[in-house]
Amino acid sequence: MSSSSNSPIVCNLPRVTIVGAGRVGSTLAQRIAEKNLADVVLLDIIAGMPQGLALDLMEARGIEIHNRQIIGTNNYADTSGSQIVVITAGLPRKPGMSRDDLLKTNAKIVVEAAKNAIAHSPNAIFIVVTNPLDVMTYLAWQATGLPRDRIMGMAGVLDSARFETFIALELGVLPADVKAMVLGSHGDLMVPLSRYATVNGIPITELLDAATIERLVERTRNGGAEIVELMQTGGAFFAPASATSVMVESILLNQSRLLPVAAYLQGEYGLEDVVIGVPCRLGCGGIESVLELTLSDEERKGLHTSAQSVRQNIERSQEILANKNNP
Ligand code: NAI
Ligand code: 2OP
Repeated sequence: MSSSSNSPIVCNLPRVTIVGAGRVGSTLAQRIAEKNLADVVLLDIIAGMPQGLALDLMEARGIEIHNRQIIGTNNYADTSGSQIVVITAGLPRKPGMSRDDLLKTNAKIVVEAAKNAIAHSPNAIFIVVTNPLDVMTYLAWQATGLPRDRIMGMAGVLDSARFETFIALELGVLPADVKAMVLGSHGDLMVPLSRYATVNGIPITELLDAATIERLVERTRNGGAEIVELMQTGGAFFAPASATSVMVESILLNQSRLLPVAAYLQGEYGLEDVVIGVPCRLGCGGIESVLELTLSDEERKGLHTSAQSVRQNIERSQEILANKNNP
């Protein structure tokens, strides 16, 4: 085929780097490429593994009908110029482990990944997925020195999707018709906002009794562990990848979606210098605004308890990184 012009055509396609090509990372790469959102660079420390996954995904392009490039690499130089960097590197939970048990191992991995990635993509927006999520997002914020609008964590979209799923299953309705928001930390202290949950605008408090709603809230809080217990070989990855891809999409397409995002707070909800899940408007600048909802006393207390637990783990992580207690 001949080109109609002699000048080379340079297409600046968006590029998303995913650090950690494990189950969440590789599934996210598939979602991003097959939604035609961006070219993807998959980076992992295991030699050959991201390259193999990338080739496999490239070989599906004709069948899935898209033309996005997927590159696998062990070298951060190949990630340069990314618009978005997603960090999924680190260990997932094993049965009986809490997300916080992962703190020690994953703190070092996330800090190293964040520093390497920002060095090659200084204009990128960062999304952290690695657990314990809120603490890892804080560490990545510190390591990159980014303004808070350009660094965030994914958890609330997943936790909200789980709450919506359980409501939909209980009522026998389409999950997409259920809208709910879960705030707070990604863990047992998350704060599902039942009061604001609706089925196409109808509050669930009109459709379900209090005891049933409480049961669904508890199942949501335990949503990650329920899957770990069933699988016995790692954690959830399909829904986490979908949740992350929604955030990537809202940023790349400047959709301004209002999503629960783990954000660095600067006084909102009476909280400062902590990362926690709150409703944020996500667009091409990253976090474009934080919405301050009016919370009941109980919800506000729940959010503050959640933030307190994140703060304690941030302090533990600072000790770990300073090598004081864990040489
Ligand atoms: P996985 O074990 O399948 O993948 C992790 C990958 O990270 C592995 O391929 C490993 O080689 C890689 N890795 C380790 N150290 C690295 C380094 N220094 N640089 C680059 N890559 C490195 O785990 P999975 O299931 O993909 O989960 C990843 C993380 O995401 C876990 O911490 C998990 O708990 C978390 N997660 C968080 C969710 C959330 O809602 N925020 C939901 C699901 C998972
Ligand atoms: C989840 O909620 C393990 O954090 C992960 O599935």
